Amino acid sequence: MTEGAVGVDLAVENGYGSVVHDVVDVIVRTAPEIRGGLVGRRGTADEENENPSGETQAEADVWADELLCDRLSALEGVSQYASEERAAVVDCDSGSGSDAGSSSTDEDGCGDGLSVAVDPLDGSSNLVSNNPMGTIFGVYDAPIPARGRNLVAAGYVCYGPVTTMVLATDDGVTEYELADGDARVLREDVRLPAEPTVYGFGGRVPDWSAEFRTYAREIESELKLRYGGAMIADVNQVLSYGGIFAYPALESRPEGKLRLQFEGNPIGYIVERAGGRSSNGTRSLLEAEATGLHERTPVYVGNTGLIDRLEDAVTHPLE
Ligand code: F6P
Repeated sequence: MTEGAVGVDLAVENGYGSVVHDVVDVIVRTAPEIRGGLVGRRGTADEENENPSGETQAEADVWADELLCDRLSALEGVSQYASEERAAVVDCDSGSGSDAGSSSTDEDGCGDGLSVAVDPLDGSSNLVSNNPMGTIFGVYDAPIPARGRNLVAAGYVCYGPVTTMVLATDDGVTEYELADGDARVLREDVRLPAEPTVYGFGGRVPDWSAEFRTYAREIESELKLRYGGAMIADVNQVLSYGGIFAYPALESRPEGKLRLQFEGNPIGYIVERAGGRSSNGTRSLLEAEATGLHERTPVYVGNTGLIDRLEDAVTHPLE
């Protein structure tokens, strides 16, 4: 553990506990700095202003990625750093970028350590309108790209009226308030409320499949709409009030918009550990095969009953 590490209790069964603790420590210390550093960095990055998924990069995206890369890749026990803002995985043992999944320090390409995948600023288009955003991290015990089943911990920071962090391990989910480099427990054993209340669906309605539209019509009559344009903030509402978040398969883009390694897997892991379900439309996001570093996936997460109904709806074509 690093000197002066935060008091975050972690139960990670597989002997990686201290590495995960150090990763979380970096997130806890860096999040307030990221939040503070957004002032003056809300514009588009000067150089290289598209990320590997072809989206415009804000100055803050690039800056937060560099900050997290420097700190996470320096940790003993972290062999790979991957970010939504970088084309290639960083091999932390050599400090160099390499092609996805090929940063090799041993046969499986992961050295002896863990791989950390980060979305430094999820929902950074909200910088323009000054709405909430987040930082997402997933800690895998396999080289990236990896299946969600290889996550040993995942979490996110939500930059809302206050800065909070939700952290999931195989032991459960805890919510913290972050301030001054410290983490104060707000809620232990976070569970999705049994009675769902809210929903948020991304993408344009005409671009949804007929099956998803039909499902959405039903949900609209049962729950309240909460959609803010940053997955983290929207999923945080689902964790607080119960419900469903989806960025579905689109007619124009059947693979959806969100990235499996940086968004789908970590959020799927967190929601499942909180007693809910995740799906890519047919099965748990955590079971989806990982084929590319920046591959996209439809994302559906929320209360089990709602995800069961969703899968039923989207896998039965309408006449
Ligand atoms: O990175 C993707 C993201 O910003 C998510 O956080 C969010 O859910 C989604 O894009 C919003 O997309 P749209 O602008 O299409 O609603």
